[in-house]
Amino acid sequence: MKVRKAVIPVAGLGTRFLPATKAIPKEMLTIVDRPTIQYIVEEVVASGIDQIIFVTSEGKSAIENHFDYNFHLDSVLKEKNKVALGEELNNISNLIDIVSVRQKKPLGLGHAIWTARHVVGNEPFMVLLGDDLVLAKTPCAKQMLNLFDDVGESIVAVQRVPADQTYQYGIVEGEKNGRDRTHKVTRMVEKPAPGTTDSDMAIIGRYILMPQVFDLLGRTTPGHGGEIQLTDALLALSKKRAMYAYEFEGTRYDAGDKLGYLKAILAYGLTHPVLKEGLKAHIREIAATI
Ligand code: UTP
Repeated sequence: MKVRKAVIPVAGLGTRFLPATKAIPKEMLTIVDRPTIQYIVEEVVASGIDQIIFVTSEGKSAIENHFDYNFHLDSVLKEKNKVALGEELNNISNLIDIVSVRQKKPLGLGHAIWTARHVVGNEPFMVLLGDDLVLAKTPCAKQMLNLFDDVGESIVAVQRVPADQTYQYGIVEGEKNGRDRTHKVTRMVEKPAPGTTDSDMAIIGRYILMPQVFDLLGRTTPGHGGEIQLTDALLALSKKRAMYAYEFEGTRYDAGDKLGYLKAILAYGLTHPVLKEGLKAHIREIAATI
């Protein structure tokens, strides 16, 4: 079955980024020349998905507006003869169907995804976190969709992390299953206490999920931090059906975290055709003074 829909939860409060996120969603913070969320939408479009479902909350309308047609701006750009720029702005909203659902309370990532259940319906779907960027030759979502064509079951994207950082992530234990970069999931644990797992495979913000996850999310009681944890429902799902962990090719940046955000700006700046040489020269200059 084809994956046609991508859920992008953007309803979190972004407290790690206060005061910047008091009036601006963290997903709208700029990386080089576009907001974080635009890179994620572009990844979805490049991967051939038909529809995006944003899970939003109060104060996030800037995200919906960003992907909407702006009649006034379009007319002004035409008057000023900036047609190409106007087309670029319109392209992203024309390329994909975007709808939103509202998460009324920030009850956790699991709850945010559950909020999208009626729009997703009974079909496999993708989830991309609104502040997780992956810089890759082949879009991470596309890599996962290629694997899904083969396995037809849920997939979580993972990256290896140092043992002393596993407590910050959902950790997957699994066994190799003959496919490149792929492990069959045997156990999952959210933010494990040090020494409670041997695995270093951390879940990042890309998933392909079978629709049975919605029932499990509906029955999940609040876990770590009083939130409805996606990992708890995924663990339950992995006991009912096969689930795969996929070590994607590329580099992931947590743009919802201050240091991750700064690293993302540098990484995307260093791939920018016009800016990269100037930025490289500047990095060399300051590196010599540190
Ligand atoms: P985070 O924990 O990174 O987001 O959730 P947050 O809660 O906004 O951030 P901090 O910790 O307060 O700084 C991961 C993703 O899940 C979404 C967030 O928007 C983010 O994309 N999320 C989280 C929701 O949509 N709803 C929630 O209740 C919680």
